[in-house]
Amino acid sequence: MMALRAHARGGPEQLVYEQAPAPSAGPGEVLVAVHAAAITFAELLAWDLQWTTRDGKDRTPVIPSHETSGIVAGLGAGVAGQAAGEEVVGLIGFDRDGAAAEYVVVPGASLAAKPQSLSHVAAATLPLAALTAWQALADHAGLQPGEQVLVQGGAGGVGIFAVQLAAILGGHVTATGHSADAGLVRDLGAERFISAEAGCPSQAAGGFDVVIDTVGGAVLDGSYGLLREGGRLVTLGAPPDQELAGRYKGPRHVLRRRAGR
Ligand SMILES: NC(=O)c1ccc[n+]([C@@H]2O[C@H](COP(=O)([O-])OP(=O)(O)OC[C@H]3O[C@@H](n4cnc5c(N)ncnc54)[C@H](OP(=O)(O)O)[C@@H]3O)[C@@H](O)[C@H]2O)c1
Repeated sequence: MMALRAHARGGPEQLVYEQAPAPSAGPGEVLVAVHAAAITFAELLAWDLQWTTRDGKDRTPVIPSHETSGIVAGLGAGVAGQAAGEEVVGLIGFDRDGAAAEYVVVPGASLAAKPQSLSHVAAATLPLAALTAWQALADHAGLQPGEQVLVQGGAGGVGIFAVQLAAILGGHVTATGHSADAGLVRDLGAERFISAEAGCPSQAAGGFDVVIDTVGGAVLDGSYGLLREGGRLVTLGAPPDQELAGRYKGPRHVLRRRAGR
């Protein structure tokens, strides 16, 4: 098959479009004919796991892209819940080849039905960023209907899903971002928008039940004081500051690589 492979760490300049061995599905795995593949640049820069197997063996050349949308082309032994010809989306572990190829093998448990209303290209953006947003809101923050939620970075890769999902879960959503993104973020379901150009939201804007921070740095530091007492802060980029967290009840942390693993 043809695949996009990186033979060394670096940026997109390392990628080579070339022949690669076609994979085959082992027990519990599904062979997917790739129709669309999504990639995050961080994959090619910093994520050590991508270059090694789980037991630390070098596995270059690697095929990037760990989110995909495609059609089931083959089933390994013992797979239940998928059938040949079905449209699926999948999140692929970072220690195995990704979907920048004609075919990818994905554990059956890491696949879901592709939403029928979406194209393959749109659907391929869902697994990692949307699952991260879901984990932050539902699993870590436990957002309840009627709660006030602030999404720091509401127009970003994770933020656009966090804003939409928070609204769907019944939250009253405020989002921050650059002023040019105000319309987009409001269209996604934010009731209020606070521009980054205006500086960090003040505590007066606060009293939030839940803050999801996708930005980090000073934005994260300023997020603790925006919570009501007992509110929940979920960070995506760095562990919470325990001293700051200690002033509030139960701030939580989402590890960057935890999504779908
Ligand atoms: N994307 C994923 O699938 C994924 C999965 C798991 C974890 N993560 C982690 O989640 C974090 C966010 O990732 P991402 O992909 O969502 O990044 P991103 O697309 O860069 O989103 C960050 C957003 O925050 C905005 N922003 C920057 N400074 C701001 C400020 N001072 N106030 C408000 N908004 C500001 C950015 O605007 P500009 O772009 O205009 O600067 C951008 O829209 C990272 O730590 C990443 O490693 C991401």
